[in-house]
Amino acid sequence: MKKIEFKKFGGPEVLELKDVEIGKPSSKEVLIKNLSIGINYIDVYHRTGLYPIPLPSGIGLEACGVIEEIGSEVDLFKVGERVSHASMPIGGYSEKQLMPQDKLVKVPEGISDEIASCIMLKGITAEYLLHRSYAAKKGDKILFHAAAGGVGQILCQWANAIGCIVIGTVGSKEKEEIAKKNGCHHVINYTENNFVTEVEKLVGKDGIDVVYDGVGQKTFEGSIECLKVRGMMVAFGNASGYVHTLDIKKHINAKGLFFTRPSIAHYTVTREEFVESASKVFEAVLSGKIKINISKKYSLNNVKEAHKELEARILTGPAVIIPN
Ligand SMILES: NC(=O)c1ccc[n+]([C@@H]2O[C@H](COP(=O)([O-])OP(=O)(O)OC[C@H]3O[C@@H](n4cnc5c(N)ncnc54)[C@H](OP(=O)(O)O)[C@@H]3O)[C@@H](O)[C@H]2O)c1
Repeated sequence: MKKIEFKKFGGPEVLELKDVEIGKPSSKEVLIKNLSIGINYIDVYHRTGLYPIPLPSGIGLEACGVIEEIGSEVDLFKVGERVSHASMPIGGYSEKQLMPQDKLVKVPEGISDEIASCIMLKGITAEYLLHRSYAAKKGDKILFHAAAGGVGQILCQWANAIGCIVIGTVGSKEKEEIAKKNGCHHVINYTENNFVTEVEKLVGKDGIDVVYDGVGQKTFEGSIECLKVRGMMVAFGNASGYVHTLDIKKHINAKGLFFTRPSIAHYTVTREEFVESASKVFEAVLSGKIKINISKKYSLNNVKEAHKELEARILTGPAVIIPN
């Protein structure tokens, strides 16, 4: 079967399409034939080594597929069922993969393969960020960076549905429209404007209840500036670079802020947490609260191009790889 692998950390050119043998599922594993594969910014961190992983490695953490074979002790799933996932082991960019049964959920009728493959990692992230890392409520003024991105489109629609006042930042004119269509009440192009000044015009100085910052280095200081006294800083990603240093006096003590640097793994510790979160995401999509527009489809032959476009900020929301 075909699979993307890489032997050294680097740019998109390190990604290689290989023909590999896939083994049989062990007792609690299933063999999945992937139907659609999600592309995520974390795939870039794995490829570059920002998040180091043992090499050589596959890549990709999100996919939807159909079960072809089950291990002897698998009791949660049957051959032929459609499942999706959002976690280790890495290797989603492949025609087939072996996954432990407890990392899978059944995909409900009414959710397409493509949508199922891009609402697990991104959707569960949006769910825990918005409901659990900080429990956003009606009237909260939230600031979300890269609002036209994969996680951004889901979270901003959900926040809008809750009744939050949603301010999103974006990096281009085209993305301004996309963010508006995906739940943002106000959109700031932060490549053309100082977002701190623009946020202040909208909600006053120190007016934001919670910032969801997946951009990192470039936005971190400004995000802190926008927050109200006792506001919440949710730093959940590093698209522009990792924030290595937190100055307690300057960043936290000055306004008595709350700070968290969560990862999806912290909010899907048990199977129950994972299944419950995935169910909420499926329900939000099935009920129409969240609409998913796949921005672009790739094949396994052109994942290098996918990574180039993701890093060049060309992609506008969830993108998938169709393996066959
Ligand atoms: N902690 C967690 O549990 C968790 C889980 C999933 C994702 N994440 C994080 O959430 C963020 C969004 O993930 P995603 O997969 O949905 O990606 P994405 O938002 O579709 O893509 C990243 C976006 O970041 C913005 N960006 C700003 N500066 C950038 C730079 N220097 N280089 C590249 N992009 C830059 C771009 O939007 P603009 O052009 O609009 O600025 C770009 O489209 C990422 O930081 C990711 O690591 C965290």
